[in-house]
Amino acid sequence: MNTSKKDNYQIAVIPGDGIGSEVMEAAIYVLDALDIDFNYIYAEAGDECLKKNGAALPDKTLDIIRNADACLFGAAGETAADVIVKIRQELKMFANLRPVKSYPNTQSLSDKIDFIIVRENTEGMYIADEERYTDEGAVAKRIITREAEERIINYAFKYAKEHNKSKVTGVHKANVLKKSDGLFKDIFYEVAEKYPEIATEDYYVDATAMYLITRPEDFEVIVTTNLFGDILSDEGAGLVGGLGLIPSANIGKDGALFEPVHGSAPDIAGQGKANPIAMMLSAIMMLRYLGEDEAADKFDAAILKVLNDGNILTGDLGGLSTTMELAEEVKNNL
Ligand code: NAI
Ligand code: MG
Repeated sequence: MNTSKKDNYQIAVIPGDGIGSEVMEAAIYVLDALDIDFNYIYAEAGDECLKKNGAALPDKTLDIIRNADACLFGAAGETAADVIVKIRQELKMFANLRPVKSYPNTQSLSDKIDFIIVRENTEGMYIADEERYTDEGAVAKRIITREAEERIINYAFKYAKEHNKSKVTGVHKANVLKKSDGLFKDIFYEVAEKYPEIATEDYYVDATAMYLITRPEDFEVIVTTNLFGDILSDEGAGLVGGLGLIPSANIGKDGALFEPVHGSAPDIAGQGKANPIAMMLSAIMMLRYLGEDEAADKFDAAILKVLNDGNILTGDLGGLSTTMELAEEVKNNL
């Protein structure tokens, strides 16, 4: 799952549109203070790129991502689907990771939330190509393969082990979807046998949606199929108080991309108002993926300190500071 530590890393950097370039500048400002040798290869994608080059995602950009150790992505605007969904497909990024964690001085439902959603990213009820109109209306095909589900469930348990998590929760709807989600549930417990030290439980997705609100502290690692993961992820973002704080990772055999969950935020773009923490937390996920845990811990602790102090915060967190003032403060706290 993680690449091994190296002397230097080639990082593809796609700032993209709107606040994408602002939060990227802020994250790289702090990364540069970490004493790791990063070589950034900037690449274009998004609305501006489409205007300039006639393509939202040029082949050159895909090649740069393919040849890099990892990719940092800011945000795209209206072309987001053509850019990010295509990158995931082209580079076979099968795992979508969304950590949900409560930080101080934020609108979190509880101050002890700390779980991650491991979402299958390649099949299930999420593939536009598998939809068609019929005489009666329309039909969408939900494909569940042993290969893809085994791969994501293995990933979740391995993640749990490597990150000292004590429990993995499998989420499905096997009471109704007895064959497809029945298979998911069977595979979940098959894989679990290889990890006797990790506790397991499985819930129906509807019940999970409720438990995430009534007892979010109980979850550590959630593994689920594509659409359920999509929905629960946004519920997760709501639990801990906002888009400016939520990072994500897309991991595959041919590449890994780290991006904040938010978009290009045209309403605040170009004003220095964007909260760079989601982008910074995405960069921290990249550091962990690269095996640079010590630097990741240091970066994470600095963000925590800044949030705890509560003096330098962006508007979305109730403060008056700019994107780069927050970056400066994080850097000073490393
Ligand atoms: P959005 O995430 O850009 O913004 C939603 C709201 O949250 C806005 O009020 C914005 O100001 C605020 N916000 C978002 N990130 C913030 C941050 N870091 N700091 C402070 N406030 C923040 O979503 P929206 O408005 O639905 O979409 C805007 C554009 O972004 C659209 O063109 C959409 O297609 C694109 N988009 C791109 C994504 C991507 O590149 N992965 C994901 C979501 C949307
Ligand atoms: Mg979504």
